[in-house]
Amino acid sequence: MSDSLLVTGGSSGIGLAVAERFAAAGWRVINLSRRPCPVPDADNLTVDLSDPDWDPTILRSVLVAGERLCVVHNAAETTADSALEVNPDTLRSFLETMVVSAARIDREVIPLMGARSSVIFIGSIVSETAFGLTASYATAKHAVVGLMRATCQDLDRDDVHTCCIKPGHVRTPMLEGLMNDGVVDRQEVLKLTHAHRLIEPDEIADLVYQAAHTPIINGAVIDAHLGRLAG
Ligand SMILES: NC(=O)c1ccc[n+]([C@@H]2O[C@H](COP(=O)([O-])OP(=O)(O)OC[C@H]3O[C@@H](n4cnc5c(N)ncnc54)[C@H](OP(=O)(O)O)[C@@H]3O)[C@@H](O)[C@H]2O)c1
Repeated sequence: MSDSLLVTGGSSGIGLAVAERFAAAGWRVINLSRRPCPVPDADNLTVDLSDPDWDPTILRSVLVAGERLCVVHNAAETTADSALEVNPDTLRSFLETMVVSAARIDREVIPLMGARSSVIFIGSIVSETAFGLTASYATAKHAVVGLMRATCQDLDRDDVHTCCIKPGHVRTPMLEGLMNDGVVDRQEVLKLTHAHRLIEPDEIADLVYQAAHTPIINGAVIDAHLGRLAG
């Protein structure tokens, strides 16, 4: 029985790098997103996670009860919005994709998990703080940490662990889009750490892979921001 990765948003950016990292180590890859994950032999389930009516029971066709499974809740979208002018549809959509769908996936797959399985959430710096014009995204990312902590408390077995990884600025289509639109200033971002560079997606993927193999971090919220400078 092979080990399996179930990643959301494996079609792009960090999720794709995670899929490539686990596949290189011999794991089977199952991806949930609207576009396919290009990793050879990946099982692609075409799903819009913002749609409350998508059916998590489709996962039963690709999962094997008792196998080691790493679930990576990674799919997300972002926008620039003010807390004073939130579009309710945007907020609902972000919560559905990042939080409600993650909970629905876990409800379906955790009972099937074998020993040494894990549930890894991808958060953000705005999972525990907020900046201006991040209202819907920061709200959903805070809830991601809440769901991880609740999952840790409610997992009534000692052979499955969970954590949340909070990346800094990672060179992905999401961040490139924000920089191209002028929402994020590329030069200001480079000043946020002494490293003066963006994080590469495969650096986050390596950390996710290590996290999947490290049960003592159960319940942890892990910064991965290259040493973001205070003030
Ligand atoms: N890049 C950064 O600087 C940064 C920093 C901190 C945290 N993060 C987090 O890292 C994660 C990955 O982001 P990224 O930077 O790699 O962005 P990305 O390249 O834009 O990838 C986002 C992924 O999420 C999927 N997705 C979005 N909405 C979806 C939906 N409704 N249904 C299904 N899949 C959906 C996309 O797939 P489809 O479009 O194919 O559906 C895509 O594969 C996110 O949780 C993000 O918040 C990123």
